[in-house]
Amino acid sequence: MTTYKAEKIYENVHWVGALDPDVRIFDIVMLAPYGTTYNAFLIEGKEKVALIETVKNKKEFYDQMISRIDSVLSKDKKIDYFIHNHTEPDHSGGFYQLLKERYPEAKIIGTLPGLNNLKNMANSNDFETIEANNDLKIDLGGLTLNFIIAPFLHWPDSMFTYCSELKALFTCDFFGAHFNCPQVFNDLINDPKDIDNLWEATKYYFDTIFGPFKKYVNQGLDSIQNLEIQTICCSHGPVLRKDIEKYKNLYREWAKEKNVEKKIVIAYVSAYGYTEEMANAIKKGMEKSNEIPVEMYDLLKEDKSKVIEAIDTAEGIVFGTPTIISEALPPIWDLALHLNATTHSGRYSAVFGSYGWSGEGPLNIDQRLRQARLETPIEPLRIMFKPSEKDLEDCENWGNKFVRIMKGEKFEPRNDLNRKRRTRSSRNGILDNTPKRWKCLVCGEIVISANVPEICPVCGAGAEAFMLLDDIKETTKPEETSFEGTIVVIGAGGAGIEAVKSIRERNKKCKVILINGEEFKPYYRPSLTRALADTSLLDSEKFYIFTDKFADENNVQILHNKIVIDIEVENKNVVIKDQKEKIHFDKLIIATGGNNFCPFKQKPEDFSNVFGVRKLSDVTMIKQEVDKLKKTKEENKKLQACVIGGGLLGIEAAEALIELGLGVDLVEVMPRILPRQLDQEGSLLFQKILTEKGIRLLLGVSVNELIVDGDRATGVLFKDSKPEKVSCDLAIFAIGVRAEISLGMKIGLKTNRGIIVDTKMESSIKDIYACGDCAECGSPVIQNWTNAIDQGRIAGLSSVGVTDAEFKRVATPYALFVFNSSVFSVGLIPSDNSDPSLSVLSLNKNSSNVYLKLFFINDILIAGIVIGDTALGIQVQDAVEAKFTYQETIEQFF
Ligand code: FEO
Repeated sequence: MTTYKAEKIYENVHWVGALDPDVRIFDIVMLAPYGTTYNAFLIEGKEKVALIETVKNKKEFYDQMISRIDSVLSKDKKIDYFIHNHTEPDHSGGFYQLLKERYPEAKIIGTLPGLNNLKNMANSNDFETIEANNDLKIDLGGLTLNFIIAPFLHWPDSMFTYCSELKALFTCDFFGAHFNCPQVFNDLINDPKDIDNLWEATKYYFDTIFGPFKKYVNQGLDSIQNLEIQTICCSHGPVLRKDIEKYKNLYREWAKEKNVEKKIVIAYVSAYGYTEEMANAIKKGMEKSNEIPVEMYDLLKEDKSKVIEAIDTAEGIVFGTPTIISEALPPIWDLALHLNATTHSGRYSAVFGSYGWSGEGPLNIDQRLRQARLETPIEPLRIMFKPSEKDLEDCENWGNKFVRIMKGEKFEPRNDLNRKRRTRSSRNGILDNTPKRWKCLVCGEIVISANVPEICPVCGAGAEAFMLLDDIKETTKPEETSFEGTIVVIGAGGAGIEAVKSIRERNKKCKVILINGEEFKPYYRPSLTRALADTSLLDSEKFYIFTDKFADENNVQILHNKIVIDIEVENKNVVIKDQKEKIHFDKLIIATGGNNFCPFKQKPEDFSNVFGVRKLSDVTMIKQEVDKLKKTKEENKKLQACVIGGGLLGIEAAEALIELGLGVDLVEVMPRILPRQLDQEGSLLFQKILTEKGIRLLLGVSVNELIVDGDRATGVLFKDSKPEKVSCDLAIFAIGVRAEISLGMKIGLKTNRGIIVDTKMESSIKDIYACGDCAECGSPVIQNWTNAIDQGRIAGLSSVGVTDAEFKRVATPYALFVFNSSVFSVGLIPSDNSDPSLSVLSLNKNSSNVYLKLFFINDILIAGIVIGDTALGIQVQDAVEAKFTYQETIEQFF
């Protein structure tokens, strides 16, 4: 076997890669006129040895690498770490063979997506891994390796490795070129022709590999800006020992985003001139109002690169193609494939074309446009053979409509797309006065309004979270039922109110009595914590879920501040506290909700400064207490609150208290915040947001009892005295909600953790229904607003005799909006990475303000986390619901 020698870069760093001088086409699509190299690097510290990258998995390259390693690494030494900055098989293809044959104990270091890729390449996870992050340091003994996560350079998995002592940066593809270089170093290339060729190859490599990821190139350059770099060890072409600043500057120059102009580019091909006739008419329609300039290109006459340049700077992109053998023509496909989500997403686009006997061409291109995440607000325009006068008029109108949309005119969603994508087109609707139903995709609340609601009254999500329900006409004219008796609803929370509303949707004759246990008008319970920070909300109609006007108009009798203490099942009566007259019912709906669990030994009601946060009265009392404390506090003393419970309620309450000027200790029994909704990295990120806002987090601790002074709590003691105690002026417990089932138990309903009901929400006793947080329809109890109102609706419909209404549990996303940041989590987040069928895609927080992590089982998207971008969260929910594949997800999101 031929032997090869390692090349010394530093005393303890060697190039151990492979040369591939003969390749001319790389990865099927790239030209490689000067061959290429697969660079791998061996780093020997005093104690440990690392190999950065391997080579393409082909025997001749693998043998080269082994031979070079053996030429420098003494037999008694082993490689302790394989580091993969990027896991495309031209760099990592050889890793598993090398691991198994020579260094089975080596640990593999890469980003999470990178490690998942490696598992899928090896079809095994029988190796130890270390997930790299920006804080990880690997000490080899005198040489320290640091990691810089650099996603999309050019895969989601990419990162850089930096050795601070040597000032050497290992970048894999970044700064690379397909250029065979037996000299190994760029400063040893002396022939001017070779130097020219290398620059040409470097530019071509950049355009092909990094061109679609310019934003990430800039982020990558930013992330290494402050590093002292003496050597760049990239993985194709020469190792760079000179011109490093030039490389960085050129990359910066090449990655400049071109300004997108308000113009339209029409690019078309035409076989018999019919599509060209359409193009001319469309252009005419576009230019009617003379507002947006239009450039038109016949691809058979124009240079493709000129058209691409025009497209890259155009806000509107319109393609015209005939259909030949069920397909668009290749020049149009070429352009459509040039478009990508990173560069072109959100631009306006449309397709047209003449056809003979079938017209799939424009439809196929239309799909591609959506894949690349361009807006496709109007349906493709297709005309059979030669356009008639009327057809040409249609073309003009179609072009004119496109311009009007670009100018911001509201438009109806396309009705040819049966998969409702939550893009601008499906959210905006038309500006008119017709009432419409809008669904908040975060919490499920339905809001009726003519135009998209600005904010969800329940969860606070913005306009981007709303989807127009376009089936309103079918669901608003249902048949009336014949039931004529009395329905009593106990509880005026979300479920109870929805029950009343749905009763009236289907029955105007029966008597409806709503018993509200609180003194206040029924309100949106999820808005309670917002009301704590901003009591003016209590004066806003938006805070209240059920108006007196609705009650009057719909003949609903509401009894406020009435507590039901018993139900006479035989006689069908409800017994109210301190009231002689019983209320008769024919059907009864129990919607008594739930209560916060109190974690102390003592009873909270015995103290004047300890509160749950479940009712409006809690909020008003907390606010009064805070006001009182502020008046009596010593000057310069900061009031301190202890909030127990690091879930949704607790975090929201903490935010409200911070806004009221208090210091907050937030106590959570789990070792990290939101462990069910976030992965470890997401929790850490969100914890950082909370601590930066002044919240002190006490994680992994259990409260035991209150420290008391008369009727006041002055602090909290912890189990095992870890920590011993915290002092506070105010304590709030916001721990999980427990179903309020005492009435149900009293009358002998079957209960578990909730009142057990069937899918029609009927309990174990005929004519008695339960819904919302007090009900259990299949295990476990689900306590969230969306399911509560769905259950309320089903209970109401069932009570008036609708027989085909059934509750179906839905995977509701978890959404939290605090401190101007949003957390969005949908699906079951895997607790660890042990499942071999699991793969993960992520966008790292350090290179973007948005944290995105997506989880796949057997290639199907099952869950996702988004911090910092609600609209993106909605798209993730869409994708989870639609069971996107890994590939579809990449196309949709990256
Ligand atoms: Fe050279 Fe992206 O692999």
